[in-house]
Amino acid sequence: MPVLITGAAGFIGSHLAERLVDAGESVVGIDSFTTYYDPAVKRRNIERLMGSDSFRMVEGSLREVDLNDLVAGKDVVYHLAAQPGVRRSWGREFEVYLDENLLAMQLLLEAVRDAGVERFVFASSSSVYGDAERLPTREFDTPRPVSPYGVTKLAGEHLCHLYFSRFDLPTVPLRYFTVFGPRQRPDMAFTRFIQAATTDGEIEVFGDGLQSRDFTYVDDAVAATIAAGERGHPGTVYNIAGGAQATVLEVIEILGELLGHSVPVRHLPPVPGDARHTGGEIEKARGDLGYAPRTGLREGLSKQIAALAPLPPGAGPG
Ligand code: NAD
Ligand code: UGA
Repeated sequence: MPVLITGAAGFIGSHLAERLVDAGESVVGIDSFTTYYDPAVKRRNIERLMGSDSFRMVEGSLREVDLNDLVAGKDVVYHLAAQPGVRRSWGREFEVYLDENLLAMQLLLEAVRDAGVERFVFASSSSVYGDAERLPTREFDTPRPVSPYGVTKLAGEHLCHLYFSRFDLPTVPLRYFTVFGPRQRPDMAFTRFIQAATTDGEIEVFGDGLQSRDFTYVDDAVAATIAAGERGHPGTVYNIAGGAQATVLEVIEILGELLGHSVPVRHLPPVPGDARHTGGEIEKARGDLGYAPRTGLREGLSKQIAALAPLPPGAGPG
């Protein structure tokens, strides 16, 4: 039976779709090509997929298409569609986050609840933890988001739990930790840093650069996602982290080493919404999903540098 991927033209969704198609699965993807970043970048993400007979793309919003029709006959639903990004979720923008991350998701859950799917895998986020009470953070540690985006992801997890407990819908939320690699979104740190470094620009660091992340290579996040679709325990949340923390300044140093030259850095004020440190305990994913991150920071960053084609004009963060 085919699987459904929402947000299939996005960074992680397009990798997930490719991996499943390459494994012989039949994949239906939906994406509304939102303007959070240039839709031309998203079209490029799915160029290879569009040539495959095993992939069908539905262009439209989850809030507008016939969802019953979309989910009918699907084995697994991977729900990745969202308005991403922690730093832009303040102010009037929050409305978009509510629309895309909660209202659209609730409609999808309603459509899926009686459709007989094997798993509903939800792309949640390390941002639910905020400034976590301990590192590495475990799934049962208290979530306390520091961004409105994180609040919507935590609420999405709660919706998953509701539909699991009330309707036996086998929901599996995954808390991805800062994912990187080829096709990383243009607003995210590594893409911005590589662009600055390869165009004689300056890297803009928010704050002192000593904030750290448990960076996760995209192929590892995708492997975990597919495993969750096959054997994630329904009703269970998993941390999907890369297994090694690095500060932003450490990343910039590695980038300079890989490029063979240092890159000028300009410090800007810290931005509200950024957690100071993230780090995920991954024993639960290791045990239940066989998750074992394979690609470290240096290797993954060099793959991202190699893959970064010049972005179309206007594709950067708005
Ligand atoms: P992305 O923006 O590249 O992909 C999301 C896609 O969803 C976009 O292509 C967008 O057009 C689409 N979309 C948004 N609203 C839609 C709607 N109503 N209907 C149909 N399509 C819609 O983001 P990404 O970085 O690939 O992230 C994928 C998912 O993983 C998101 O849910 C994000 O919140 C989550 N996540 C990402 C990271 C990360 O580091 N990239 C970390 C934690 C969680
Ligand atoms: C990322 C994604 O953007 C979110 O969608 C996701 O939910 C989150 O990971 C997560 O793990 O849950 P973030 O960690 O902010 O969020 O990822 P980046 O945008 O790559 O930023 C990483 C670090 O670099 C942050 O500390 C940020 O302050 C810093 N940064 C980013 C800069 O110093 N300069 C920049 O130009 C961009």
